[in-house]
Amino acid sequence: MVSLSQLPFFLIFFLFTTLCNSSQPYLQLPLLHRHPSPTPTQALSSDTRRLSLLHSRSASSPIVSGASTGSGQYFVHLLLGSPPQPLLLVADTGSDLVWLRCSACKNCSRRSPGSAFLARHSSTFSPFHCYDSACRLVPRPDPAPCNHTRLHSPCRYQYTYSDGSTTAGFFSKETTALNTTAGKPAKLPHLSFGCGFDISGPSLTGPSFNGAHGVMGLGRGPISFISQLGHQFGSTFSYCLMDYTLSPPPSSYLRIGASESDVVSKLSYTRLILNPLSPTFYYIGIKSVSVNGVKLAVRPSVWSLDKDGNGGTVIDSGTTLSFLPEAAYRLILTAFKRSLKKVASLVEPTPGFDLCVNVTSLAKGSLPRLRFGLEGGSVLAPPPRNYFIETMDRVECLAIQPVDSGSGFSVIGNLMQQGFLFEFDKDRSRLGFSRHGCGLQ
Ligand SMILES: *[C@@H]1O[C@H](CO)[C@@H](O)[C@H](O)[C@H]1NC(C)=O
Ligand SMILES: *[C@@H]1O[C@H](CO)[C@@H](O)[C@H](O)[C@H]1NC(C)=O
Ligand SMILES: *[C@@H]1O[C@H](CO)[C@@H](O)[C@H](O)[C@H]1NC(C)=O
Ligand SMILES: *[C@@H]1O[C@H](CO)[C@@H](O)[C@H](O)[C@H]1NC(C)=O
Ligand SMILES: *[C@@H]1O[C@H](CO)[C@@H](O)[C@H](O)[C@H]1NC(C)=O
Repeated sequence: MVSLSQLPFFLIFFLFTTLCNSSQPYLQLPLLHRHPSPTPTQALSSDTRRLSLLHSRSASSPIVSGASTGSGQYFVHLLLGSPPQPLLLVADTGSDLVWLRCSACKNCSRRSPGSAFLARHSSTFSPFHCYDSACRLVPRPDPAPCNHTRLHSPCRYQYTYSDGSTTAGFFSKETTALNTTAGKPAKLPHLSFGCGFDISGPSLTGPSFNGAHGVMGLGRGPISFISQLGHQFGSTFSYCLMDYTLSPPPSSYLRIGASESDVVSKLSYTRLILNPLSPTFYYIGIKSVSVNGVKLAVRPSVWSLDKDGNGGTVIDSGTTLSFLPEAAYRLILTAFKRSLKKVASLVEPTPGFDLCVNVTSLAKGSLPRLRFGLEGGSVLAPPPRNYFIETMDRVECLAIQPVDSGSGFSVIGNLMQQGFLFEFDKDRSRLGFSRHGCGLQ
């Protein structure tokens, strides 16, 4: 296991361009969406793949990561190397490693430019030595011999997502620049990342990866992008995922560093819970759920994280739909059907979904209201467009799926998070959220 005392070796010295006039430094990056967006059915199938395998994770593996399926996801631009090469990464709170597809060719100008990071075309690229303390932070292939007297013995990593997709190569460092929303690029001289030469598996090579070059892991572990930058910015980050189906789509962003005080004043908080068996994930505690103001009779234990590391609820930017324990899901479904029958016509559900409604003659505001009571007393009350998804013209389906809480965990996916500002504060172990924070910074 990696201990936090190893972190000083990992510090990056940030040539920070002052982006604003506030006393708190921050870095704000636009989050992009790729077109076409996956259909709800595609999103469901890649979410299910991500989760069914996330859930079967092995408890013995110290680094547990979410599979990044690319579905319905948000992307970050990154400039890597000297001279800089433009690359696109999936922003993923469900995994830790930052990695990129790499190519080792010497003269790559004729080979599909832009499909990989060309390590040999950069004068600042350097793999960590296998004996370097940084190398102990990444999962290694087995066996991973390290001859520390040999000068060129790069740190090999092998990172396996829970659906079996794998990226393997050299754990390296490189100079990075990021496009900020302020228009000024910010430079990081030492970003530690996986230079992936061997990439396999459906979620990293299939169409759902959407042409991305790699993943920006924003999880809780020490190698994540957030943990690397956290030393500069106080271990806090926030994001606003906006509804990309709106036209024109409002801009989504990722902010590394504390929120502005006018945002902070609007935040409600709940505790972030650490699951030692899945240290990557940001867990929160759901205490209750209500439909149209009526609290459902869900046993509290249905939501809890047990001592074997099962159950509980994670906030994940890389999953589109939301997944709730079967027992709670059934009660929500029943309450929703009862409420909807009075106001709309239920239609034959789109395959994979349990409840679909013809919204043609539905009065605005008549979809049922869902609210989650969270640990600490705050309430997450998403608008219906965060849990109903259009599967066909004028047909909307409930975008929540059941999971077995005895072996899996609940997920608040990115659709449920849309339009909210979420602020993750690792030092204070709390999650702040507000429906009125996205336009403010
Ligand atoms: C920055 O803040 C200082 C004082 O707080 C103020 O005098 C100055 O005009 C500000 N600069 C900008 C560019 O806003
Ligand atoms: C950065 O922003 C500039 C101007 O908006 C744009 O032309 C460029 O493609 C962007 N680069 C990256 C890597 O995002
Ligand atoms: C690299 O490619 C360029 C143009 O594509 C060519 O002029 C040059 O000779 C090549 N160099 C090597 C070492 O192959
Ligand atoms: C380690 O590398 C050195 C220098 O290349 C070599 O002499 C030595 O035999 C190697 N040791 C092992 C165990 O491979
Ligand atoms: C939805 O309702 C409208 C009007 O009631 C009807 O014309 C349309 O065919 C329905 N659509 C579906 C998919 O049932």
